[in-house]
Amino acid sequence: MKENPILETNDVTINFNGLVAVDSVNFKINEGESVGIIGPNGAGKTTFFNLLTGFFPPTKGKIFFYGRDITDKPPHKRVMMGIIRTFQLVSVFDHLSVLDNLILSNIKSSGISYSIGRFFFSEAHKPALKKICLEALKILGIEKKAEIMTSELSYGDKRKLEIAVALSMNPKILLLDEPFAGLSDQEIVEVSRIIKEFKKGFSMIIIEHKISRIVELVERLCVMHEGRLIAEGIPDQVLCEPLVREVYWGKEDGLVCSV
Ligand SMILES: Nc1ncnc2c1ncn2[C@@H]1O[C@H](COP(=O)(O)OP(=O)(O)OP(=O)(O)O)[C@@H](O)[C@H]1O
Ligand SMILES: [Mg+2]
Repeated sequence: MKENPILETNDVTINFNGLVAVDSVNFKINEGESVGIIGPNGAGKTTFFNLLTGFFPPTKGKIFFYGRDITDKPPHKRVMMGIIRTFQLVSVFDHLSVLDNLILSNIKSSGISYSIGRFFFSEAHKPALKKICLEALKILGIEKKAEIMTSELSYGDKRKLEIAVALSMNPKILLLDEPFAGLSDQEIVEVSRIIKEFKKGFSMIIIEHKISRIVELVERLCVMHEGRLIAEGIPDQVLCEPLVREVYWGKEDGLVCSV
């Protein structure tokens, strides 16, 4: 595959009062590529997403988007560039209707202020925006719930809404932090199918503990441990590396590797 990095980190590090949560990580993802990140609890996966999306400034190192240094760019500017994320704990507005969650997020990501946005989208543009948002809900199978209060949704439906919001924001790269957490087996199958179908249109990084699910969705797997990237490559091969087996499953993992 021809290399065309969309997002890249160079030696990126964050130190929380002595705890190095992300430690000198060099990471690269190409346009159209899907990469998984696994690792034990506390390995630094979510913190790495927080660095990529601008929620935390790195203590050291640089972050590049299409080769451009974005290390100092705030989160909303990165969203406008197409760096879109979902959160480990679902993050939606409970006090808005399902549809208004999507509309508000799209107004915010367009870069216009909320008050101007409300005026702008309340008139000529609202029907077009509403159509995009309803389509996103339809993709996730929750369009019939468009008008209800988000607080009334089940956790699984809130997760679907969060993914609908992310898809409607036209990502160039989508960062999913444990998208299957809190979902039923049936919902995991549905959401996995949707991710598989739509990931063709953008690059994707997915953090997930459910390894059997993540390997179906990504071409490359990275393993984090104590803030460091300790392995990366083709999923089946990475899962068979002795160091990965040791940190992830312990010495006596008992798994049989096929490669
Ligand atoms: N804002 C913060 N301030 C201080 N320490 C933090 C902060 N955020 C994360 N940490 C610490 O950084 C380390 C990495 O946490 P992080 O949430 O990134 O792990 P994770 O790999 O996402 O784990 P999990 O699989 O449980 O979600 C942990 O020790 C955590 O306590
Ligand atoms: Mg996490």
